[in-house]
Amino acid sequence: MARELVLILDFGSQYTQLIARRVRELGVFSEIVPGTMPAAEIARRRPDALILSGSPASGYRAAAPLPDPEIYGWKKPLLGICYGFQATVQLMGGEVEKAPRAEYGMASFVLDGKSPLFAGVPGRFRAWMSHGDEVASLPAGWRRVAHTSNCRFAAAAHAKLPFHLIQFHPEVVHSPYGRQVLANFLFKVAKLEGGWSMKSFLRAAIADIRAKVGPGGHILCGLSGGVDSSVVATLCHRAVGKRLTCVMVNHGLLREGEAEEVARELGARRGLRLEVVDARRRFLDRLAGVGDPEQKRRNIGEEFIRVFEEEARKIGPVEYLAQGTLYPDVIESASAGFGSQVIKTHHNVGGLPERMQLRLIEPLRLLFKDEVRELGRALGLPDHLVDRHPFPGPGLAVRILGPVVEHDLDLLRRADAIFIEELRRARWYGRTWQAFAVLLPVSTVGVKGDERSYEKVIALRAVNSQDGMTADWTRLPPGLIARVSSRIVNEVRGINRVVMDCTSKPPATIEWE
Ligand code: XMP
Repeated sequence: MARELVLILDFGSQYTQLIARRVRELGVFSEIVPGTMPAAEIARRRPDALILSGSPASGYRAAAPLPDPEIYGWKKPLLGICYGFQATVQLMGGEVEKAPRAEYGMASFVLDGKSPLFAGVPGRFRAWMSHGDEVASLPAGWRRVAHTSNCRFAAAAHAKLPFHLIQFHPEVVHSPYGRQVLANFLFKVAKLEGGWSMKSFLRAAIADIRAKVGPGGHILCGLSGGVDSSVVATLCHRAVGKRLTCVMVNHGLLREGEAEEVARELGARRGLRLEVVDARRRFLDRLAGVGDPEQKRRNIGEEFIRVFEEEARKIGPVEYLAQGTLYPDVIESASAGFGSQVIKTHHNVGGLPERMQLRLIEPLRLLFKDEVRELGRALGLPDHLVDRHPFPGPGLAVRILGPVVEHDLDLLRRADAIFIEELRRARWYGRTWQAFAVLLPVSTVGVKGDERSYEKVIALRAVNSQDGMTADWTRLPPGLIARVSSRIVNEVRGINRVVMDCTSKPPATIEWE
């Protein structure tokens, strides 16, 4: 299969990531780069086609981010979306002005002529618009392809070159023909073959790691029990085998059975070299009497690096550190700054690569979370590991409000396991983005048998979300909540009351601390 790449020039639209995902879903690998990237740098990546994203900016303002005009000279297939439409028109000699009426939401489009971009799309169709500026006149050599009642130029095409411009957003779900339009661009205009899949990504990623590490290099990888680090470790293991050593710090703040499951699945079953460090005592000591949530986080973070570093030094010479940085972390700063990419370092091992002079390997840095899950499946990791809900680095410590003691960790772990078990049994686990139990630092009066009890409270939290930035509480069926509640108060000694958190984010956060 030929190597095919679509580059998406990002001008800061909130939908840029969606464009990248849609293109990948259609079977063509895509990457996002800053919209103002110099043409020479774009050329070095050898893209087969370019897509120009939308933007909150106005092209005719002085500070507007514009693409390097040289890209138009290449005559490569190009699709301009919204601002990408306007910026192209402006750079090629047309006119853009403030729209008399800004248009946000669904609009009805009328096609004015034939275009390969609209093959299979009806002459009238609805799509999502979000723009305050519009094209007033097209440059020479361009023709109008569609209009709406408010927008004279809603789509345009170049007479000779494979350049297409659209004012609507094909990448959002509200544009029913959006997928068709993107597919037409990739396969009819750019004449790409497609066929990119996670399996091809997997092969390329393994080859990349081998090339980077060379025949004698060693990789160190921290395993947290979560999806990302399990996938990174498995991938590196495929690439370099025994030259990978994984370190799992068991800080005692993990979910029930988590440390054991990772050790079994990756260590025993797959033969990864895995050091599990039992640091439970150390972390409990660092947390003793600490009630402030931020102080807890800081203490855990510091202790984590200390333990990890001690272990890493015992392993012997290592040159590389593998970590599970994801695409949203990589592009977050690129979008905001229209320029240099600053990459977040993983919170767990922040500062470690510099101190130990380790070079980074980040095989997931081009993937979205659900793609990481798909990659995990392509690597043969079991579903229950791959589909696991996100879990915060500081673990259960931020789910016990106030100071953390060992006994409370045991109570919480058990209650949480019951909640998760019942969710899975009722087939609600996969329909929930994240669910967990929280231990409240209050005791309430109850009656068990004929006896008065005075015990702690568990709060249940279940949310639906896209990315954790915003969230809504999941409307779990009452029967399911009743089973969870009844099992927790009956099976976990020390808990006599269960409550449900029904708050969205904002104003609350997902975690309680
Ligand atoms: P919040 O509570 O901020 O959480 O709404 C959003 C998402 O992030 C997770 N989370 C963390 N993850 N270290 C992490 O690795 C942390 O300190 C941390 N705090 C929150 C949380 O579980 C949710 O998925």
